[in-house]
Amino acid sequence: MPEKIVTIENLKAYYLMESYGINRRVYAVDEVSFEIFKGEILGIAGESGCGKTTLTKTLLGIIKPPLYIMGGEIRYKTLDGEINILALQEEEIKKLRWKVMSYIPQGSMSVLNPLRKIKDTFQDFVEAHQPEMDKITFNNIIREHLVSLGLPLEVLNLYPHQLSGGMRQRVTIALSTIFKPEVIFADEPTTALDVVVQRGVLQLLQKIQKQAGNTLVIIGHDMSIHARITNRIAIMYAGKIIEIGETKDIYNNPLHPYTRYLIGSLPRIGDKSYKTSIPGTPPSLANPPTGCRFHPRCPDIIDICSKEEPPLVEIKNGHKVACFRVSDGGQDNE
Ligand SMILES: Nc1ncnc2c1ncn2[C@@H]1O[C@H](COP(=O)(O)OP(=O)(O)OP(=O)(O)O)[C@@H](O)[C@H]1O
Ligand code: SF4
Ligand SMILES: [Mg+2]
Repeated sequence: MPEKIVTIENLKAYYLMESYGINRRVYAVDEVSFEIFKGEILGIAGESGCGKTTLTKTLLGIIKPPLYIMGGEIRYKTLDGEINILALQEEEIKKLRWKVMSYIPQGSMSVLNPLRKIKDTFQDFVEAHQPEMDKITFNNIIREHLVSLGLPLEVLNLYPHQLSGGMRQRVTIALSTIFKPEVIFADEPTTALDVVVQRGVLQLLQKIQKQAGNTLVIIGHDMSIHARITNRIAIMYAGKIIEIGETKDIYNNPLHPYTRYLIGSLPRIGDKSYKTSIPGTPPSLANPPTGCRFHPRCPDIIDICSKEEPPLVEIKNGHKVACFRVSDGGQDNE
C-alpha cells in the first residue's frame, strides 16, 4: 500500500457573496475526499470552472474571502505527525508553505516582478522565508538549484521580459522548488506555451520530482499531458471528484460517462476522425443540479440520477467512481 502524504476528507470550500442583500454561494469544492501518495505524480483534470484551482488553493491553505471552508480536513503527513492545516493559524501555514507544500500558480508569469532582475526576486524570496540564512549561503543555494535543474546562470542577471515564455516558466518552477518541498502543486503549468516548449517544462517538472523523490500534483484540463506524465488521475466535475485511479486504468477502462467523453475528445496523432465533444455546458456552481451533477448531460441517465447523489465507490485496485450505473454493476435502477 503506498504511503499517504496528504489525506483530504469531506472537504467543502465555497465562495460566499452578498449583493443587494442577497446571499450567494458557489459550491466550488463540495464533499471532496481523496488521498495523495508520497512520490507520485497525480493529475487533477476537468473542464474549466469545475473547481480545480479552488481545490488547489485550499490544499495549500490559501483561503481568503470570499472563499470559506465549510467543512472537512486536509491532513499532511510531516515529521511531527499528521497536521490538519485547516486547524492552523495563517502564520503556522506560512511556515509550511514552500517547504512542505509549494505552488506553481496558474498564470505564473505574474510571480516574477517585472521591475526586478531574476536574482533579486530569488534573493527576496529566500530572505523572506529563511531570514536567518547569510547572503553567501543563499546565493550558493540559488546557483546550485539552477544548475541542478539545467538552467543557465545568466538568467539571474536578466529581467523577466528578457526571457522567453518557456524560460520564464522554468525560472518560476525553480523559484517554487528552491526549498525542496515535499508536495508541489502545478496549476496549468504549460498553458499558453507551444507544444515543444511544453515538453521541456514537463520534463523539468519530472526531473525535479525524480531528483528529490517528492510528490507532484499537476492540475489541468489537457488530458494528453495527464496521459503522458501522471501515475494517477482524479477527474473533477462541478466541484466533485467523480473518478480517480491509476492513469492506465482511467485510460484503458474509463468508468464514468464524463471521463469517457474527456478521453474521447483527446486528439490522437494521425487520427483525423471526428471526436465526440461533451454535449451541453458545465452547470453553474451557484446552483448545481440535484442528484448526480452530471445528470443533465449524461447519455446513461436513469431515474435515480436526478434524485440522489452517487457516492464515490472503489471498483478495483484503488479505481473509484461516482456513478449509479457502474457501482450497481450496470443494473438499471428504474
Ligand atoms: N474569487 C471568486 N469568487 C467567486 N467565485 C469564484 C472565484 N474564483 C472562482 N470562482 C468560481 O468557482 C468555480 C470554480 O472555479 P475554479 O477557478 O476553481 O475552476 P477551475 O477548474 O480552476 O477552472 P479553469 O480550468 O478555468 O482554471 C467557478 O464557478 C468559478 O466561477
Ligand atoms: S449517476 Fe447517472 S447521471 Fe450520473 S453519470 Fe452515472 S448514469 Fe450518468
Ligand atoms: Mg483553474
